[in-house]
Amino acid sequence: MKAIGVDETSKDLQLIDLPVPEPGPGEVRIKVAAAAVNRADLHQRRGHYPPPPGASETLGLEVSGTVDAVGPDTTGPRPGDEVCALLAGGGYAEYAIAPATQCLPVPKGVSLVDAAGLPEVACTVYSNVVTEGGLQAGETLLLHGGGSGIGTHAIQLGKALGATVAVTVGSDFKAQRCRELGADIVINYREQDFAEVLDGRADVILDIMGAKYLPGNVRALAKQGRLVIIGLQGGAEGALNIGALLAKRGRISATNLRGRPLDGPHGKAAVVAGVRRDVWPLIEEGRIAPVISARLPLAEAEAAQGLLDSPESIGKVLLTV
Ligand SMILES: NC(=O)c1ccc[n+]([C@@H]2O[C@H](COP(=O)([O-])OP(=O)(O)OC[C@H]3O[C@@H](n4cnc5c(N)ncnc54)[C@H](OP(=O)(O)O)[C@@H]3O)[C@@H](O)[C@H]2O)c1
Repeated sequence: MKAIGVDETSKDLQLIDLPVPEPGPGEVRIKVAAAAVNRADLHQRRGHYPPPPGASETLGLEVSGTVDAVGPDTTGPRPGDEVCALLAGGGYAEYAIAPATQCLPVPKGVSLVDAAGLPEVACTVYSNVVTEGGLQAGETLLLHGGGSGIGTHAIQLGKALGATVAVTVGSDFKAQRCRELGADIVINYREQDFAEVLDGRADVILDIMGAKYLPGNVRALAKQGRLVIIGLQGGAEGALNIGALLAKRGRISATNLRGRPLDGPHGKAAVVAGVRRDVWPLIEEGRIAPVISARLPLAEAEAAQGLLDSPESIGKVLLTV
C-alpha cells in the first residue's frame, strides 16, 4: 500500500510502499478514505513525540473509511461499515488498523471524508472540557487557539452545553470565523492580554500554551476554576503562583489522549463511548459540524502539514486517499 514516510535525515515527507497491515485481536482494518493532520504529527515527524509502544511508526492519529477486515475476537464494526476512528498511529496510509473500541459510526449528515476530522478533536475536547473540566451550563469556557482543530470543535461543544465561550486567536480571519462558530468573546492575543479581559471570570480553561500562559491562566480563572492543559506550545516548565491558585480554590490538570490505556475508567474506549453517547447526537442534530479548511491528496502531506501554520487555515486539514 501507499503511505507517507519521514526521511530520516531531511525529515521530509515522502510517499512510500508498506505492507498492508493485518488486524490483531479486537482490531479492525480500515480502507482509508481520509486521514486528518494534527499538530502532534509535526512533533512526531521531528522526533519529539514518539508513538506509544506497539503503535505504527507511520504518522496519523485519526482516519475515516470502510472496514475491510476484522481481527480475531473482534466485536462491533463489521466489513463494509463506514467508520471514523481514533488511532495511536498509522493514519497517513491506504489502510490503517484501529481497535474496534476506538471506531465510531460516521455521523448522519457528515460526509465519509470529513468524518476523518472528528475523532481526535471530539475525544480530546470531551475528555478535557466535560470529564476533566466539568463544564456546566451558564459557566464561562476560555479556549486558547480558537481557530485550531481543537478550538473550532470546542467552541461549538461549549455553546451546545450552554456556556459562554471566550477564545484567543492570532489573526482577524480566525477571529471572524470563531465568532461565526458561536464564540462570545474573541481576543486577538497580538493586541489584547486575555488575562486582563477574562480576569477572574473563566470557570474552565482549555490551554494549549503551557508555561507561557500559566500566570495569565491563573489570573483568568474564576473561583473554583479548572485549568486543563493539553498542549505545551509555549514551553513545559513555568512558575506557578500557588497562593493565587489557592485563593481561588482553583485546580490545574494536564492530560494526554494518545498515551491513555485502551481500557479502564480513563482509557480510550471509555472516552470514545462517552463521545458517542454525548457528542455524536449533537453532531447529528447539526449543532456541531466538522470545520475543514482543506482536503489534499495523501501525496501532498508536506503541503497539508504546512497549512497548520497558516493564519488563513482554520479547523482541520485532511488528506484524502
Ligand atoms: N493532550 C492531548 O491529548 C492533545 C490532543 C490533541 C491536541 N492537543 C494539542 O492541542 C493543540 C491544538 O491541536 P490542533 O491539532 O488543533 O493544532 P492546530 O490546528 O495546529 O492549532 C494550533 C493553534 O495554536 C494557536 N496558537 C499559536 N500561538 C498561540 C498563542 N500565543 N496563543 C493562543 N493560541 C496560539 C494557533 O492559532 P493562531 O494562528 O490564531 O495563533 C493555532 O490555531 C496542540 O498544542 C496539540 O498538541 C493535545
